[in-house]
Amino acid sequence: MFREMHRFEWPIIDSASDEAVIKQLHTSISLYKKEGIYDEFERAFADYHLLDYSVVFNSGTTAIWAMFGALGLRPGDEVLVPTYTFFATISPMIQWGLTPVFCDCSEDGNFDPEEIIRKKTERTKAVIVTHMWGIPCNMPKISSLCKRFNLFLLEDCSHAHGATIGDRKVGTWGDMAAWSLQGKKVVAAGQGGILATSNRSMYEHAVFLGHFNKRCFQELSPESKFALYSITGAGMNLRPSPLAIALANQQFSQFDQWLKQKRLYAQEWIETFSDVPFLTMPKFPVEYQPTWYALVMQYDATKSKFSRSEFVELLQNEYKLGEVDIPMSTCPNHLLPLFAQPHTVRPDFYDANIGNMNDNFPMARKFYDNAIKIFIPARVSDNDDFQLYIEGFREVAKMVVL
Ligand SMILES: Cc1ncc(COP(=O)(O)O)c(C=O)c1O
Repeated sequence: MFREMHRFEWPIIDSASDEAVIKQLHTSISLYKKEGIYDEFERAFADYHLLDYSVVFNSGTTAIWAMFGALGLRPGDEVLVPTYTFFATISPMIQWGLTPVFCDCSEDGNFDPEEIIRKKTERTKAVIVTHMWGIPCNMPKISSLCKRFNLFLLEDCSHAHGATIGDRKVGTWGDMAAWSLQGKKVVAAGQGGILATSNRSMYEHAVFLGHFNKRCFQELSPESKFALYSITGAGMNLRPSPLAIALANQQFSQFDQWLKQKRLYAQEWIETFSDVPFLTMPKFPVEYQPTWYALVMQYDATKSKFSRSEFVELLQNEYKLGEVDIPMSTCPNHLLPLFAQPHTVRPDFYDANIGNMNDNFPMARKFYDNAIKIFIPARVSDNDDFQLYIEGFREVAKMVVL
């Protein structure tokens, strides 16, 4: 057992990471064009996804902001959004005056495709999904419904770097996709984000929104309506630090290996605990290959002597399993003040009383209320510690089962 609260190391910073960042430090700490480490990482990332273009940002949030902007929608246009996600999937649309229409999830915590049929109106222009905790949403169904109803489709892949359905990666099913590269993510820059697409005009629009001057002169087609504004771009500077992108690039070069190992650990966890009566393991079709950003189980307190929080406290306090916890900030979003009363932030776009206070999202509520999460490590050398998690979890599960 662990003596002190245990954490797996993440991100994995080794001598190759030091070298990559120091090399960048002595090469260039500001980049102005699609050049150097930006170009190297963007190309590798787009190629990996078999997409034509990608552009770096200083966070996942700003990459998502640029995706919404690059759709060219108008204030009041509706976008179908998952209520169960991290808020930054939705929050950037408030800056564009778009109306989030919240959708419930399926049993697996992911966007329920049937909600598109139930919630779309004549004002609905787009759908955004998040592949929660790294498990792909049902993209074949979601993308076919978006085509049928002529809706743009955006993917927030911040939990799901490298996840696939068959041999098709998440991030390639819609018009554009964005990934956070924040420090806890599977590809980490510390602070950073990336947007990818095969749509040239959306790509140029996104470049215009986040970059300016040299990169706009370099990349905007002369016929683009934005070319005239190249000096200023859209007036924002959302470029990331090249040091951060050097780190992301180095992490990315190893990450397929990490994914393989994460999948083995996740499979072992699921097989070990699938017959515990008060736990439901993640379920997904065989052709889905999740990222395992985290593995999220559902806890049924009616089959246990302990409540969910008592169970997790026991694991943390007695067994020092610090990587088991209850996810809090990734939650149903529809009641958050930013979405219920967005006029406080953008009085120019929203009326004081537009609040969406409807709380009828039973699946999202249930998923959130019963979720327990465990971090899944990525290296073979983490195996001894991972086995201590399995042992500790098994002991506590035996203790509390009814
Ligand atoms: C699903 C999801 N979307 C968006 C974001 C925002 O990314 P960032 O923190 O890089 O702005 C996060 C990150 O934390 C996230 O988990």
